[in-house]
Amino acid sequence: MKKIVILGSTGSVGQQTLEVISQHKSDFQILSLGAKRNCNLLFNQAKEFGVKKVFLKDCPSIDESEKFASEGIQVFNSRKGLFSLLDEDIDQLVLAMSGTDAVYPLIYAIERGIDVALANKEAIIACGEIVNNKLMNSKSSIIPLDSEHNALYQLLDGNKKKDIAKIILTCSGGPFFNSSPEELVEVTPEMALSHPRWDMGRKITIDSATLMNKGFEVIEAYYLFQVAVSEIEVLLHPEALIHGLIEFKDGTVMAELAPTDMKMPIAYALGFPDRIDSGLRLDWHNMRKLHFEIPDKEKLIALKIAYQCLELGESYPAFLVKADEILVEAFFEGKIRFTNITEMIQRAVSLHQPVKVDSLEKIELVFKDAEKITKQILKGDK
Ligand SMILES: NC(=O)c1ccc[n+]([C@@H]2O[C@H](COP(=O)([O-])OP(=O)(O)OC[C@H]3O[C@@H](n4cnc5c(N)ncnc54)[C@H](OP(=O)(O)O)[C@@H]3O)[C@@H](O)[C@H]2O)c1
Repeated sequence: MKKIVILGSTGSVGQQTLEVISQHKSDFQILSLGAKRNCNLLFNQAKEFGVKKVFLKDCPSIDESEKFASEGIQVFNSRKGLFSLLDEDIDQLVLAMSGTDAVYPLIYAIERGIDVALANKEAIIACGEIVNNKLMNSKSSIIPLDSEHNALYQLLDGNKKKDIAKIILTCSGGPFFNSSPEELVEVTPEMALSHPRWDMGRKITIDSATLMNKGFEVIEAYYLFQVAVSEIEVLLHPEALIHGLIEFKDGTVMAELAPTDMKMPIAYALGFPDRIDSGLRLDWHNMRKLHFEIPDKEKLIALKIAYQCLELGESYPAFLVKADEILVEAFFEGKIRFTNITEMIQRAVSLHQPVKVDSLEKIELVFKDAEKITKQILKGDK
């Protein structure tokens, strides 16, 4: 029986992880769950799966604490408390929480030699180099949950990295790919929150609409697979049935095809090194034509910024991910327009003074710099 911890269990990936586990209950024991503030759902999940320890970042009210206590569930809300959940005998951490706070459990889990099923992308983008250095001296490994990276991980199994010519991430294009600049200015959070192919959390849905998500995935791929930036490409594929492709040096291309559903990569990561049934199958009877198009990177501003940050290296990726987090929140709060998100990110990145990021303390300084610069831009001071 695999002993696991799920951080971000109340979110889109977290809930789908629990759905897969509920189909294979005898194979998994959930030791703890974690969320930010969704107390009721966390409580119900803990009860359903017999979990006795939970992490809730925002302190529960007295009533809520009593509710957990009445079921014998301990609630932790400090970083120390979070780490104590990872000090147990764990086989896998499912890191499904959103945001840059995930850097702390990710690094801690690697230091403790725990395998990580990684959905969160902010942490690997912010501290990819630190993660890779730590992995060299750790017995833990990362299985990517992001569908594109999970596809590439599967395709690489049994192949040699030295034989790769290119890794290719597919991109559905998001809801506004064919919109005019005038239409984009009018996009509201409600409009941006309806993605045509994937049902995801709020933040990643906006990133998918601006295409910053694809830029993030390029950076994520760079750190996860450690190939040259020039070997990472993006291919438009609106049907989102092929998630990743690898072109080998002899010209052979291998592609991974799967239903557009996060439960596929989740089941792969939970079952690893074996396979468990996701319950999903491709519908060959209704398979439509598959379309592909090479994107014009110059026109896709968010993708261009992400490539630039990756080329510039040092603290640029960490700065980018934090600046995006703040500006997407400003869009939700109605402070800026949809098109301002990438415009302001571009301006913020141009003002960043890079530093070498070799510790979490340095990452925190970069995050503070991103906060300072984006807030000045939001106030109109820069
Ligand atoms: N959704 C997808 O299909 C998908 C695909 C690939 C990658 N990802 C990545 O996976 C991550 C999660 O995405 P999502 O779509 O599942 O997001 P989501 O639906 O917004 O859920 C986020 C989860 O993280 C929790 N959380 C947020 N901040 C936290 C903190 N500081 N400490 C503890 N828990 C915290 C939330 O708790 P509350 O509910 O209490 O707020 C919630 O459980 C993101 O990094 C995203 O980019 C998602």
